Amino acid sequence: MRLSVASIWLALLQLQGIVSAELPLSARQLRPRDYQARDYYALELSGEAYPDIVARHFGLDHEGPIGELANHHLFSASIGGRDIIKDRIEEYRKSRKRDNYLNELYGSILFAEKQRLKKLEKRGIPLPPRQQPVEQDLETLDYLMDTLNIKDPIFYEQWHLFNPVQRGHDVNVTGVWLQGITGQNVTVSIVDDGLDMYSNDLRDNYFAEGSYDFNDHVPEPKPRLSDDRHGTRCAGEVAAVKNDVCGVGVAWDSKISGIRILSKQITDADEAIALNYAYHENHIYSCSWGPPDDGRAMDAPGMLIKRAMVNGIQNGRRGLGSVFVFASGNGAGYDDNCNFDGYTNSIYSITVGAVDRKGLHPYYSESCSANMVVTYSSGSNDAIHTTDVGENACYGQHGGTSAAAPLAAGIFALVLSVRPDLTWRDLQYLCVETAVVVQADDPDWEFTTIGKKFNHRYGYGKLDAWAIVEAAKSWKLVKPQAWFHSPLLVVKHDIPEGNVGIKSHININADDLKMANLARVEHITVTMNLRHHRRGDVSVDLISPKGIVSHIATSRRDDSSPNGYDNWTFMSVKHWGEDGVGDWSIVVWDRVTNQNTGSLIDWKITLWGEVIDTEKATLHPLPGDAMNQTHPIHENPFTSSVQVKTTTLSKQPTTEAPLPTHTDAPNRPVNSKTTLITTTTVATTSPSTTEYPAASGTSDAIADMDDRPGFIPSFFPTFGVSGKTQAWIYGALVIIVFFIVGVALYLCVQKRKRRAKSSDYEFAVLEDEDDVGGVMAGSSSRRAGAAGGRRKARELYDAFGASDDEEESYSDDEEKEYRDARDYELEQEEEARGIDEGKRVLGGDREALLGRNRE
Ligand SMILES: *[C@@H]1O[C@H](CO)[C@@H](O)[C@H](O)[C@H]1NC(C)=O
Ligand SMILES: *[C@@H]1O[C@H](CO)[C@@H](O)[C@H](O)[C@H]1NC(C)=O
Ligand SMILES: *[C@@H]1O[C@H](CO)[C@@H](O)[C@H](O)[C@H]1NC(C)=O
Ligand SMILES: *[C@@H]1O[C@H](CO)[C@@H](O)[C@H](O)[C@H]1NC(C)=O
Repeated sequence: MRLSVASIWLALLQLQGIVSAELPLSARQLRPRDYQARDYYALELSGEAYPDIVARHFGLDHEGPIGELANHHLFSASIGGRDIIKDRIEEYRKSRKRDNYLNELYGSILFAEKQRLKKLEKRGIPLPPRQQPVEQDLETLDYLMDTLNIKDPIFYEQWHLFNPVQRGHDVNVTGVWLQGITGQNVTVSIVDDGLDMYSNDLRDNYFAEGSYDFNDHVPEPKPRLSDDRHGTRCAGEVAAVKNDVCGVGVAWDSKISGIRILSKQITDADEAIALNYAYHENHIYSCSWGPPDDGRAMDAPGMLIKRAMVNGIQNGRRGLGSVFVFASGNGAGYDDNCNFDGYTNSIYSITVGAVDRKGLHPYYSESCSANMVVTYSSGSNDAIHTTDVGENACYGQHGGTSAAAPLAAGIFALVLSVRPDLTWRDLQYLCVETAVVVQADDPDWEFTTIGKKFNHRYGYGKLDAWAIVEAAKSWKLVKPQAWFHSPLLVVKHDIPEGNVGIKSHININADDLKMANLARVEHITVTMNLRHHRRGDVSVDLISPKGIVSHIATSRRDDSSPNGYDNWTFMSVKHWGEDGVGDWSIVVWDRVTNQNTGSLIDWKITLWGEVIDTEKATLHPLPGDAMNQTHPIHENPFTSSVQVKTTTLSKQPTTEAPLPTHTDAPNRPVNSKTTLITTTTVATTSPSTTEYPAASGTSDAIADMDDRPGFIPSFFPTFGVSGKTQAWIYGALVIIVFFIVGVALYLCVQKRKRRAKSSDYEFAVLEDEDDVGGVMAGSSSRRAGAAGGRRKARELYDAFGASDDEEESYSDDEEKEYRDARDYELEQEEEARGIDEGKRVLGGDREALLGRNRE
């Protein structure tokens, strides 16, 4: 019935010549955009719908498909300010008028979003002038240039490739080149402000078919603005030709393409096309940009861009997956953290931070639990030496995490040139496997359960080109991806202030993971809703069943947004290789005691990893895809418990005292920041939960810690007995204290509950069918998703507008005075000593740093 009506309808329209028989447009035939005169709309239509009919109904022009996103189309209308699609859909919903034609038509619209213009920020950083290095290992340098026949005049200055001064502080690539591995057959796409394809240092490696200018809507992404230099410099790092111009790229025989998106404003639809552009031929996308790194923004890519990234890893590179490489961000000096940036904290991107030529952490490079690796960039009075815009122009001041990401992308090109069959996840495994620890005495280094060390600043360490290429040669491909989406845990609990946090956990049992076909964990994502008067006061730790702690959210002194965390997804790669079974807890802290308070609303966790059974592997639905909701991935009932247990945790004030190094204690979950001293159950909904913290993190940790020394903070007496016995003694003491405090708090809560006259102070699995179905099926309601996407998109890049009239941090003015370029050297030294509290922002005033790319 439905079909016949539709076909008659279509046949009639075809007769009238309304449906043209035109072939689908490819991205190559993109129409130029006219943002002065036209509004643009992105629509996802059901498979049978004809875009031309939809266009006609709404009075739109069909601009063509949205790149490689199936059934997504771009439409335009004369500029008007209103969202005419939304209005019409709304109108239709309200109207009583119903007929088959309109039902078909409106039913065929699965997603609609009016496009907004936004501008992304490049991640370069201006630098102080460089001093000539003194003592150099010129002998090795000459030998290498001789053997490899390198005649490039600035190769001597390209310390990131071979460092003749600080030996060992380079990407260790020369041994790879000597084997003849130089990036053959791999293309890296520089998604940036264009690249100078007529530079003598780039022209031979330029790949035109993979290139496009999404700002000026022409095929050639040429730098056109005076500051369009960033992309050319990034391209030089990857694939500057071995010739007599400037230096060489780390993968000098790879190809580079340019995708120009940063020079003007752009819509989500065009950014989505860009990230899938020529995605079989462009293997790696190097992205040195993102939302502002001002320590205030909390921005994620819009729905279309998220879909394009998933589409890229599922279908790009003929199904092996596009490799997205993102710069971690330059906001560390503003307390910024890459988990507040939805590009860098995506599981589909490899996040790359920076170290400088002395192997030190440069003040700008952001930390987060989503950091995968670091590689070399500016700092310690030098920067990256590369190609510049112009026939024979070179540049010696390229820096920031902007310069780190392309270097990583180039190293991945070397890897793919020996193993073109690696999937996007194999590359991430290889990073985890082969990255090398830097700054070993940094107290944040912590062993994970697979015996690798992780540090929020450095990820798994610095990339070593030789090590990763060697490991790749014999790498056994991992099995496809699996995932486990927990149900939503509704908490609705106030967040205490000071050194007390609240802890909430979700228990995941082995059967659930088996049912989800999940063998071992790779990425963890936690999506949460949290309200707070001042977002920057809040921080969140994620504790795995094995006691490994990820600082998924950190406090940010400049973030005075009153918006809290709105469905925000944090990510961690620190739990790579864990089995995932047991209690996953989050602990939410508000360490700033002031009038700004808040509450944790709800959260859910997703374990992403490798399948058990390849036969049963499926592709994850696109974000916000509701069609798949009716075909749940996990059809079996969910049995993991989502528990009531919310506990408050006291915490030792963070001290600056050096922590014991744990270099020789593999598998020891030492956590430098959250020493959980007491655990108290404050809220219970059933008598069974008044039991002692048996199931909570602390006791587990005691059990897990076994006899390893150093578990009890050193200022406690040891009684001269083993760690285990100490644990029991203190455990007993702590339990007595808990009991007393617990009873007190329990009574207190009861009183408050009575006062609130509310009996719904409970934590429960959300019963709403949509949500449960959504989490279980691994997708959420399409319409809800669409609405969420629209809202998010509007918030995107407006985060600056967050109220500034909130009381500012007391030290703000002092800090401004303290930010003085003359202090640069001093501060660098302090940085080196690891005293950085993110409070010192170097190199001039805030504005200069925010205008990051104005080199
Ligand atoms: C650097 O490469 C050389 C081979 O050229 C290798 O022997 C050495 O182990 C590598 N360094 C590291 C830290 O892996
Ligand atoms: C590059 O690809 C060509 C054609 O597929 C092949 O013959 C050649 O061996 C490849 N080169 C490398 C270094 O893999
Ligand atoms: C559901 O998801 C799968 C995998 O992503 C996809 O192949 C399929 O087309 C989707 N189904 C619908 C109806 O969208
Ligand atoms: C979070 O997102 C889901 C679906 O994506 C939506 O149903 C829910 O309303 C959102 N919650 C909030 C608080 O925005």
